[in-house]
Amino acid sequence: MTDPIKLLLLPGDGVGPEIMGEVRRVIDWLTKARGYGFEITEDLIGGVAIDAYDTPLRDETVEAAGKADAVLLGAVGGPKWDDLPFEKKPERGLLRIRKDLDLFANLRPALCFKALADASSLKREIVEGLDIMIVRELTGGLYFGEPRGIEDLPDGSRRGTNTQAYSTEEIRRVARVAFDLAAQRRGKVASADKSNVLESHIVWREEVTKLHREAYSHLELSHILADNCAMQLIRNPGQFDVLLADNLYGDILSDEAAMLTGSLGMLPSASLGEADASGKRPALYEPVHGSAPDIAGQNVVNPLAMILSFTMALRYSCGLDTEADLIEQAVQNVLAGGLRTGDIMQPGMAKVSTTVMGDSIIKELGNLTE
Ligand code: IPM
Ligand code: MG
Repeated sequence: MTDPIKLLLLPGDGVGPEIMGEVRRVIDWLTKARGYGFEITEDLIGGVAIDAYDTPLRDETVEAAGKADAVLLGAVGGPKWDDLPFEKKPERGLLRIRKDLDLFANLRPALCFKALADASSLKREIVEGLDIMIVRELTGGLYFGEPRGIEDLPDGSRRGTNTQAYSTEEIRRVARVAFDLAAQRRGKVASADKSNVLESHIVWREEVTKLHREAYSHLELSHILADNCAMQLIRNPGQFDVLLADNLYGDILSDEAAMLTGSLGMLPSASLGEADASGKRPALYEPVHGSAPDIAGQNVVNPLAMILSFTMALRYSCGLDTEADLIEQAVQNVLAGGLRTGDIMQPGMAKVSTTVMGDSIIKELGNLTE
């Protein structure tokens, strides 16, 4: 018998517990129907952790996350905690876990499911078959650079400061991930930057170019200015295979790419650190969408981005590619069958709740493996 797969679940705030509930059912199915062993622990992050422990993330939780094979995170934040001081906000918990586990590579696949091509605000012919992998740098750049802060100036006014800085190794390690992924896909990397304005991005572009020449010259590398990239994503998204970007632009471009696929409610993500000697990488999986407090607790949220984040965990942290394929197939089939949560609802389709979407996935998994 192999060791059980250790999962740490951090449902978080807003719709987080509802979408995590549906993942738990998929995990139960894998246990009962497929014979896998999981060791599951659950903990708090974000606003709920602030309410219980007065901090958005406890040291114990970070430690448990480091020991897990994979961490699954729902979402953090909500209006209840908006007025807290900066360091206490729910989002700080998320940024801290990324930083403390050194999860520098954030993979955000923007995949347009066939059945959803009409749910996008763009024309079907532009988004159909879309398959872009965004690789966002996640532990550096403007989000973490020092100096940072808010100062009171002598004249009574204030100044807020953030620093954008990238060093050679920070760029190379994330670029390597992008090239390695491209090698398994269509062999193309587009790196987005503002090297026409920012020194940090002059270094970014030069280091990516250098790494490409040294180790990946069999792949196609192009550089694109980030503003043009935002435009090209709408104009002709099919030109992109792997899209590499820094922390800030990656955040923005991935929301944009998400809308191409029909809904932010469909987009999963994986955040990966460096592999150790045994090949194990610290890893966290979360949907790209947020905590959606306006619809929380109503059983209407789309659980698919969270379920697809779990399939990424099966793929990248558990080596269970076949099971990941199976679950993704179940998602495709359920969508092809016409079931939709509110966010992806289309005329002629059947609008269903979070739990009915979950039921249907489990039922389809049963059909697929009969
Ligand atoms: C994301 C989110 C986060 C980010 C927020 C919640 C801090 O927008 O994961 O894309 O900006 O990284
Ligand atoms: Mg974002």
